[in-house]
Amino acid sequence: MNKPKIAQNSPAPVTVGAGKTYYWCSCGESKSQPFCDGSHKSLA
Ligand code: FES
Repeated sequence: MNKPKIAQNSPAPVTVGAGKTYYWCSCGESKSQPFCDGSHKSLA
């Protein structure tokens, strides 16, 4: 990866449920931003 992949450069509202666990995408590859969908595995 030469350049970082940034999903969005502005705030985005996200609906979440109380008591649920969410995983934040830190690689920028997820199709379900801002949450991880496992796409980071293709970067290894
Ligand atoms: S951390 Fe980005 S898809 Fe998993």
